[in-house]
Amino acid sequence: MLRRDGGTLGRRGWQERAPMVEPVRRAVLVGTSDGIGLAFTGRLLADGWQVAGLSRRGVEPPGPAYRHHVVDVTAPDYPQVLGRAIDDLGGVDLCVYFAGVGDPLDLDDLAAEHRTFEVNLTGAVRTVEVVAPLMVAAGAGHLVGLSSLADRLVSADAPGYAASKAGLSSYLLGMAAALRPRGVHVTTVRFGFVDTKMAKGPVRPLMLPVDRAVEILMDCVRTRPVVVSRPRRLAVVTSALSTLARLRLLVGR
Ligand SMILES: NC(=O)c1ccc[n+]([C@@H]2O[C@H](COP(=O)([O-])OP(=O)(O)OC[C@H]3O[C@@H](n4cnc5c(N)ncnc54)[C@H](OP(=O)(O)O)[C@@H]3O)[C@@H](O)[C@H]2O)c1
Repeated sequence: MLRRDGGTLGRRGWQERAPMVEPVRRAVLVGTSDGIGLAFTGRLLADGWQVAGLSRRGVEPPGPAYRHHVVDVTAPDYPQVLGRAIDDLGGVDLCVYFAGVGDPLDLDDLAAEHRTFEVNLTGAVRTVEVVAPLMVAAGAGHLVGLSSLADRLVSADAPGYAASKAGLSSYLLGMAAALRPRGVHVTTVRFGFVDTKMAKGPVRPLMLPVDRAVEILMDCVRTRPVVVSRPRRLAVVTSALSTLARLRLLVGR
């Protein structure tokens, strides 16, 4: 029998037990200066996490449990900065990769497509390269990557964005299978539209408020699923549209 204060009833009556101390949970969040990453940072801090945040812009620290590191995920020294952020934190239990860019295709600036891959995909791969060995050594940890429902799309408007997210989803799913036997969970989050500056197009069906996106992420932290696609209805529609677009391309219409 367990008493409210943690004491137990044994043969010799109530035995006192030291009060349970919650371990400090440590999160490294990449892309915290804006949007979903910024809102999620506030939520983790309110729940008592220690957080290290990284992005190109500085941020006003939202509390003493937050430390910010200014870095570009495409910079040569990004792995070193990330490693130092984790050392500072004393380890990492959760890592969420929010960093992403999504500009429409400009045929006069195809280098922008290349930059999209570097941030959305290569930056995430470089993050895993630093974080996964630490989690494997600890035999525990949770990696989360923000992909998109666009990962299935044939997109003439933003081919680099869709393809970089397709690569990210595929990579994270593979890593989920590779790391699960080592005690490390990997979650791919596929949102449709979330109300941030990134969702700037004129058509944004079933757009999620940022708070709702944060709640979905908090559920992921609790349950550590392999993949989450929201809103579900948009996921079904996107999948059907993608099949249709592939067929039309194949038959040349
Ligand atoms: N909003 C949506 O509709 C939506 C839908 C599906 C998926 N997503 C995904 O969710 C993630 C977050 O999106 P969001 O809407 O919150 O976007 P956001 O408001 O534009 O924020 C993007 C974050 O990424 C950081 N970032 C961008 N490039 C970076 C770089 N080179 N190095 C370091 N940090 C960088 C930005 O910080 P700095 O500019 O300071 O570097 C910022 O903190 C993205 O991966 C996005 O693709 C968004």
